[in-house]
Amino acid sequence: MTQRLYIETVGCQMNMLDSELVVASLRNRGYELTADPKQADTILFNTCSVRQHAEDKVYSNLGKLRRLKQEHPEKVIGVLGCMAQKDQHSIFRRAPYVDLIVGPGQLHQVPDLVERVQQGEGQQAELSLGRTDGSNDAIKRSHESFDPLRDPTMRPTPWQAYVRIQIGCDKFCTYCIVPSVRGPEQGRPPADIVREARTLADQGCLEITLLGQTVNSYRYREGDKTTTLAGLLHQLHEIDGLLRLKFVTNYPKDMSEELLQTVAGLPKCSPYLHVPAQSGSNRVLEQMKRGYTVEDYREMMQRIRKRVSGYAVSSDFIVGFSGETDRDFEQTVELVEECRFKNSFIFKYSERPGTKGADQLPDDIPEAVKKQRNNDLLAVQNAISAEDNQAFIGRQVEVLVEGPSKASRESGSDGPVMQMVGRTHCDRIVVFEGNERQAGQLMPVVIYESRPHTLFGEVVTTCSGPDVFAVDLSA
Ligand code: 5AD
Ligand code: SF4
Repeated sequence: MTQRLYIETVGCQMNMLDSELVVASLRNRGYELTADPKQADTILFNTCSVRQHAEDKVYSNLGKLRRLKQEHPEKVIGVLGCMAQKDQHSIFRRAPYVDLIVGPGQLHQVPDLVERVQQGEGQQAELSLGRTDGSNDAIKRSHESFDPLRDPTMRPTPWQAYVRIQIGCDKFCTYCIVPSVRGPEQGRPPADIVREARTLADQGCLEITLLGQTVNSYRYREGDKTTTLAGLLHQLHEIDGLLRLKFVTNYPKDMSEELLQTVAGLPKCSPYLHVPAQSGSNRVLEQMKRGYTVEDYREMMQRIRKRVSGYAVSSDFIVGFSGETDRDFEQTVELVEECRFKNSFIFKYSERPGTKGADQLPDDIPEAVKKQRNNDLLAVQNAISAEDNQAFIGRQVEVLVEGPSKASRESGSDGPVMQMVGRTHCDRIVVFEGNERQAGQLMPVVIYESRPHTLFGEVVTTCSGPDVFAVDLSA
């Protein structure tokens, strides 16, 4: 009998990919998806622990299921991902009606564990070892990369896919929970990655985004041969059918010349680099144990500027980290003004129990100050994004069309002309009037209007000759 699955996902792209793969593995056992938890036989939360806010949201949504579980004890409720690993000892206590806790390194077990609960075997928990709970090898083995065969129907769009190339992180920035919940950094064998990318290309995928917490630190040793991210990109570039290659998230110190030359030299590599700076103050970077100075970051930006034409760089920042003074914050503003990021994700510092930051540094910046700095930095970034987007007006860009825009989907417009959305090679969002048949195609678009985070354009169509372009106003 078909069973129904409801899944809620918070967090990063790695979590999106994990959820896609968990859903695919349950569909193989006869599940279909439902958007309504009340209709579901199994309800899963794929969770994030990076900030308190993400955890609060899951606990609040879990709380809403207490009654449902009382009325329907046969429903299976599971908590997966980073918060499952981090709160492994408290979830069953806080929410005793949860049946299943599965860490991010054990997701391959989900279908069997759900079955065990259904067969009356009681609460199930599968977790990886903590960073001090065994030998390095044993800890590594307990964090398994979950990369089953890909199901094309499960991707948000069939022509885009994430591919994991690395799990875990060994950088131990003092604010970050990732190294303890996702375990040691481990690269996936290049042959497996290339095989998966080939399968995706055969299924019609045009764009692949490689995922890793510090993706540019990727290294895989086989005998005396070491494959780096640059080497991997060269291999992936050979795959017929793929048009775009992206990779996130980068670590500033590992942005090698070899990698930048590869991005500059391979036309399928998007000239888009997400490289979080986190702060513009050396004092704060030192407290964060980021392992670089602002001067190092500036030097990296210079190399990107010099090597990669048409580049776009985006960043993450944490404001209100322990001891951050007004002067430290001003230096962050200065860095944003100087680097002119395409966009920045800005977060208020959230103390994470179990990190060095929580153990050794006071969370001493008042919430109101954090909020103010967040707003101020966002305003600076938005002004830059607005200016730089304005420079696109009148220019022609190549857009990989993702599908109808959110506005179009929400208004339920199903006429022949609708608002479509896609991205340029350097990851700028472009909205234009078009039709659903354009989804999954590369379209030339001329930009006529801009907002800080969106460009608006019109499709260009060839008319009398192969190299004569005109703007098609009717498209
Ligand atoms: N508080 C606030 N932001 C955080 N990040 C990571 N840990 C924390 C924390 N404890 C941010 C960093 C990282 C992004 C994914 O989340 O900016 O790059
Ligand atoms: Fe966290 Fe730092 Fe690793 Fe990024 S590099 S996942 S911020 S510890």
